Amino acid sequence: MAQFTVLGSVGLISLRNPPVNALSTHVRQAIIDNLKRALSDPKVKSVVISGHGGIFCGGADIKEFAKKLSGPPLAPMIHMIAAAHKPVVAAIEGSAFGGGLELALGCHYRLAHSKAKLGLPEVTLGLMPAAAGTQLLPRLIGVPAALNLITTGRHVTAAEALQLGIVDQVIDHNVLAEALRFSESVAGQPLDARRISTFPCPRPSDLDALFEEATRKVRQSARGAVAPLRCIEAVRAAATMPYAQGLELEGKLMATLMNSEQARALQYSFFAQRAVAKWSMPSGARWDTSQPRPVRRVAVIGLGTMGRGIAVALAQTGLPVVAVETQEKQLVQAKQAISAMLERGAKRRGAAPPPDGISYGTDIQAAADADLVIEAVFEDMALKEKVFQQLSAACKPGTLLCTNTSSLDVDHLAAQTRDPELVVGMHFFSPAHVMKLLEVVYGSRSSPQAVATVMQLGKKMGKVNVAVGNCPGFVGNRMLAPYLEQAFFLLEEGATPELVDQALEEFGFPMGVFRMSDLAGLDVGWKIRKENGLANHGLVAGQSATIRRGRRDSPLGDLLCEQGRFGEKTGRGWYQYDKPGGRVARSDPWLHSFLEGYRAQHGLVARPIDHQEVLERCLYALINEGFRILEDGIAAKPEDIDVIYVFGYGWPRHRGGPMFYASTVGLPKVLEVLERHHQAHPDVPHLQPCDLLRRLVAGGSPPIHKWNEVTGKFHSRL
Ligand code: NAI
Repeated sequence: MAQFTVLGSVGLISLRNPPVNALSTHVRQAIIDNLKRALSDPKVKSVVISGHGGIFCGGADIKEFAKKLSGPPLAPMIHMIAAAHKPVVAAIEGSAFGGGLELALGCHYRLAHSKAKLGLPEVTLGLMPAAAGTQLLPRLIGVPAALNLITTGRHVTAAEALQLGIVDQVIDHNVLAEALRFSESVAGQPLDARRISTFPCPRPSDLDALFEEATRKVRQSARGAVAPLRCIEAVRAAATMPYAQGLELEGKLMATLMNSEQARALQYSFFAQRAVAKWSMPSGARWDTSQPRPVRRVAVIGLGTMGRGIAVALAQTGLPVVAVETQEKQLVQAKQAISAMLERGAKRRGAAPPPDGISYGTDIQAAADADLVIEAVFEDMALKEKVFQQLSAACKPGTLLCTNTSSLDVDHLAAQTRDPELVVGMHFFSPAHVMKLLEVVYGSRSSPQAVATVMQLGKKMGKVNVAVGNCPGFVGNRMLAPYLEQAFFLLEEGATPELVDQALEEFGFPMGVFRMSDLAGLDVGWKIRKENGLANHGLVAGQSATIRRGRRDSPLGDLLCEQGRFGEKTGRGWYQYDKPGGRVARSDPWLHSFLEGYRAQHGLVARPIDHQEVLERCLYALINEGFRILEDGIAAKPEDIDVIYVFGYGWPRHRGGPMFYASTVGLPKVLEVLERHHQAHPDVPHLQPCDLLRRLVAGGSPPIHKWNEVTGKFHSRL
């Protein structure tokens, strides 16, 4: 609701709908009722709208999206505020997001606390700010700035909001008290020049170029997403049409988004991100109700690619960090690289670099005082065993020992230590100071408290943490394996890297599988396969297919590595680059003739392959593995898998994640397609539909949040 009080000559409307004062039906109604009271009360000369509990307004109530609109709509309410004959002042504390900011734009003046954040994040939910936001903001701050905020949904600080002209004043003490004083001072003054809807929209001379550039940017950063494009259309209307007409178009464009599949996927993704924070261990113990241990000092062991990024992300939290690297040369390079990364990060955030809280050492004993250690040495079990034994002996009792391994057994490492319950996997993604995802891998003996501690540290580092069980590849990489495998098989059957990548990029991935593989480096997997005795299978020329140990397996990646083609780093991989380290991929005729030679050697006849087949083979194999992971209880719920894929593997957010996508395609269809491909390729186990998928289809394909009831492993708390 919204409470109304008269304080002297000021009518105060205070939104009260915890936790974020969302504009639910009853809140909108209360604002209108209270505004009417304020306007008709002769004692009231001006009005202040504020939010109770230190937050102005978090925007629309997302839970109401799925329902039919009831109560007064937002836009007419905002126009009613703007049309008021007494000044209305917004006192913005905490945040003014979405409908909350639109509400503030309806007011005649806006005062914000210096710590407040403002923004129109609707686009991130597949929508647009359609309570006049797309028409008001460009009129207030100009087309380029409005386009940027509306199409990205990014938040701005109060300082930036002042600079852009969104707010009139920034206050670093009591905003409400200041707003009450301010509103008295402007009472009785003319308001015509304060109604944003009457402002002419500044019309940049290069309007067409501006909108073209905005469209290009959106197509590049949110491939396939519709909402940002509709936002651009709406802002264009603000710049080219009278207000009323622009508003009408805004409404029409919003109607096309409101019930779209993309909006549903993005809203699902929003809730999924919240849901991953709630989880219980198979024992039934809940880590999210466990009290985390205090972490005051963290050590990082191994300062290669990952260790450096992890150290940076830790230092940015302000925690003292001890960084240990055995190789002197690596240590010197790491120090320089870490300082440079910290400086760049600070520059980007417009902040001072964090105080250098990192101390360096070459002896593992330096980690003795840490409350938590993150190991990031080479992916070599014998080495990691030794490091865990050393850490267990060196560290004080109670220290959590974490590993950043991407493939090795967390339980085996835990068994090397005094306290296996304090061992947890922290699987970061590269670059670790940038990538949002953190897979928190609990072993069979990890304690809920240890998991809770790691989750809390991850949160402090700004990560999206997903707790997952221990198995080869955990969740993300385990699902990636069948996806990669299908891509190789498609090459064997007649596709090119370009065709496969194009299909995946059109689907919405920022990069196709082969571009991604070139970027990550083909040698990484090759090294692991060689160590496991899996690389270079000694293929027999003339073999009709590449069969090993009774199942089809492709050596293509290994064969490229044997040619020294490691991807971008060597200037050659699945594509060619102008130089080692080059970023622009070009088709490579060598690769095409290599593929032809390979097919001829193994009696493989190239056949035409279309985009549809690429998507079915690569994505459905990945999804099938996702069902297996649910069945095995490695992921507690489908939302966990989806969040991992959106935040760690470039799965297009507007498609929700692989499991959500499967639910939109329809499970019977997914099953049928997998069955069809498995019949065509019986030697590919990943295409064999898993039992859980069959059971779900047989049970009438329940909605996604009910899948766990079928696995019987976990209960989703969504
Ligand atoms: P890297 O080869 O770049 O760095 C490893 C570093 O550890 C080297 O600087 C090495 O000198 C140091 N080192 C070796 N033995 C040591 C010891 N006893 N004490 C202290 N330092 C020691 O390796 P990278 O790529 O950083 O990988 C590290 C770990 O992270 C591996 O387990 C890997 O599987 C995992 N990982 C790697 C990802 C990637 O994209 N590179 C992604 C996620 C996890």
